[in-house]
Amino acid sequence: MVGCANGHPFNVAKEGYVNLLLSHQRKSKNPGDDAEMIKARRRFFDSGAFAPLSDRISNSAIFQRPDIAVLDCGCGEGHFLGALSEQYEGFFCGIDISKKAVQLASKRHKRAAWVVANGMRDIPIADASMDVIISILAPRNPLEFSRILKPNGALLIGVPGPNHLIQLRKQLQFTAADFNEKADEATVKCSPQFIENHREQLSYEQTLSQEQIADLIQMTPIFWRSSHEAKAAVMKLDQLMVSISFTLLTLMPAQGD
Ligand SMILES: C[S@@+](CC[C@H](N)C(=O)[O-])C[C@H]1O[C@@H](n2cnc3c(N)ncnc32)[C@H](O)[C@@H]1O
Repeated sequence: MVGCANGHPFNVAKEGYVNLLLSHQRKSKNPGDDAEMIKARRRFFDSGAFAPLSDRISNSAIFQRPDIAVLDCGCGEGHFLGALSEQYEGFFCGIDISKKAVQLASKRHKRAAWVVANGMRDIPIADASMDVIISILAPRNPLEFSRILKPNGALLIGVPGPNHLIQLRKQLQFTAADFNEKADEATVKCSPQFIENHREQLSYEQTLSQEQIADLIQMTPIFWRSSHEAKAAVMKLDQLMVSISFTLLTLMPAQGD
């Protein structure tokens, strides 16, 4: 059992995670990604389709610190933080508002601490205690991130890059704007607490199997808006070559914060 400063006790679940999400901090009974989305995400990661992204994150220079403390906010099923916890020595904590995601993460990755919490409210992490915060395709809370990070810490943000999954989006007749602006938007939203220090682009092509296509659609809510017919046609494809593109941003706390 763990407790908070106000004396409230919280049980440690059998999988090893802690649920700190109080009922007034959530809008629905089961907030965040649901079980089917989480399982599809886990299968998609396990298939290796995002392995180049995972390798690029794990080998980033910002993790080359002794006894590093890392928070993954919106960690999902724990793929990225789990890999970091296996590669480095230190303290690794993942939080997500989805209990199912945290359950799955804590079952697989035992070298990290996993917490159900709302990352868009008060994050249950001490002031100036983290060397790195990672936020991959997840909501960002710059005010709380700047409170939690050490003054020489770093915030690593991953957003979809130009032409990400463009072939799949075309097949799904998905007309939303491309992702060109995502990185700039992230930098603007994180100011004035953070300033951008480094930006890198990762792009590669991958042939997806029928199972991978189905999982990608399942784990990506924007695709659900496409028509039933377009989705049915894509699901019938034996394979599809797609461009995978991410922009990784490293931001530093602005001076005086
Ligand atoms: C697209 S998934 C990305 C998950 C993970 N970072 C990854 O790349 O595999 C977004 C995640 O953010 C979580 N999320 C959404 N709102 C959140 C919030 N307010 N606090 C914490 N997590 C949240 C969802 O439950 C989901 O797991």
